[in-house]
Amino acid sequence: MTSSPSSSPLRLGIAGLGTVGAGVITLLRANADLLSARAGRPLEVVAVSARERTRDRGVDVSALRWYENATDLVNDPDVDVVVELIGGAEGTARALVEAALAAGKPVVTANKALLALHGSTLARLSADNNAPLLFEAAVAGGIPAIKTVREGLAADRLLRVGGILNGTCNYILTVMRETGKDFATVLKDAQDLGYAEADPSTDVDGLDAAHKLTILAGLAFGQPVAFNSVHVEGIRSIGAVDQSFARALGYRIKLLGLASMTDAGLHARVTPCLVPQHAPLAQVDGVFNAVVAEGEFVGRIMIEGRGAGAGPTASAVTADLVDIARGNTIAVWGVQSSNQPPLRACPISSGEGAFYLRLMVEDRPGVIADITAILRDCGVSLRSMLQHPAENDSTPYVPLVLVTHRTSEAAMQDAITRIDALSVVTDSTVVIRIEAA
Ligand SMILES: NC(=O)c1ccc[n+]([C@@H]2O[C@H](COP(=O)([O-])OP(=O)(O)OC[C@H]3O[C@@H](n4cnc5c(N)ncnc54)[C@H](OP(=O)(O)O)[C@@H]3O)[C@@H](O)[C@H]2O)c1
Repeated sequence: MTSSPSSSPLRLGIAGLGTVGAGVITLLRANADLLSARAGRPLEVVAVSARERTRDRGVDVSALRWYENATDLVNDPDVDVVVELIGGAEGTARALVEAALAAGKPVVTANKALLALHGSTLARLSADNNAPLLFEAAVAGGIPAIKTVREGLAADRLLRVGGILNGTCNYILTVMRETGKDFATVLKDAQDLGYAEADPSTDVDGLDAAHKLTILAGLAFGQPVAFNSVHVEGIRSIGAVDQSFARALGYRIKLLGLASMTDAGLHARVTPCLVPQHAPLAQVDGVFNAVVAEGEFVGRIMIEGRGAGAGPTASAVTADLVDIARGNTIAVWGVQSSNQPPLRACPISSGEGAFYLRLMVEDRPGVIADITAILRDCGVSLRSMLQHPAENDSTPYVPLVLVTHRTSEAAMQDAITRIDALSVVTDSTVVIRIEAA
């Protein structure tokens, strides 16, 4: 057991008082006694920073020292730990975290973009200055995913890690499945309910999930991963018709981030996937997240919970603070060497798998023969085919779904390029990878 280094308060400087920052202050106050008992010393906020001093944040910060410039928190001798809850991979958030680590101050952050893009540099700064950097809230909010992968599974060689890493996408896909509504309608509803941002692109285009996957993969394989090598697709192309075909085929559609280590190297991608409807991942609905990991000795595990929101995220941030108070900290990527260059994932074309393809084709004889000829020429073998009758006479096009056996990504891409060039095919083919889950 690690004993606490002292019983004097651990003094915190918090930058960012939005959803998460205000949530952390609320939790610290609500659970002060419990936290003090668990941490072995009180956790005390002494200073804060945000943009607008007078904004009502639902928490009283009037007694706390206020900094206009968040990086000044680093130079405050009363601040033992800097808590960065501003967000963004650059700007003030990055400057603050780098300055704090360079000054030897421990940092807690929830900033997935920062860790995904600059994790290698930050790990080096953290190690060189003996300043812990903790970021439990950066992946899957309230789920202790980082601790599970980096510490709970420290004994095992991990083969695969990932899961449902974006609650907004999971919510949209769930509601589309349950209501039969299309993507645009459900996105608009989600924005009205506060489940999606006004600019939803970071979520629905898969970037947020890719940030989290980059971090998880770095922890699982003990080395930072190059974010720009992760293949990223979002959910904008998924239609109501795909939900109904998926159901008919016995699957559910989920946006999954998956990273696996093979003899050929790291494969890492965020893509919509068909998951068997009775698989554990398929049961994770709405705004919930789930993290899966698979190791040689442990087999497969899955943890599920709320991936965002003030309460769950504050819970993860504060657990990091308890660890710092206990003196229980660990190297950023869980390995002692801090000088590793980011590992690049293999190109998506080097992967393989089974595919669902949805085409919009002219409803006339010979079309299916043309398409199956292309698949044959590309060496892609078909497992099944489904066609819906035309819904009305206003369009000559009908959806056609093809499900393939396992094949190479390269062969599949070649076939799709040729299929999309056929005059009888309109729109780009919708591609959904099929996962055993
Ligand atoms: N929201 C979630 O559920 C969630 C979940 C997991 C991780 N995270 C991560 O947690 C971080 C914070 O997210 P959030 O949702 O709390 O964001 P948010 O509600 O937008 O809050 C951001 C806060 O940062 C402050 N801020 C912006 N620029 C600043 C600057 N230059 N100097 C000082 N303060 C500045 C803002 O000040 P004003 O209030 O004065 O404008 C605001 O208080 C992000 O990295 C996010 O990815 C969030």
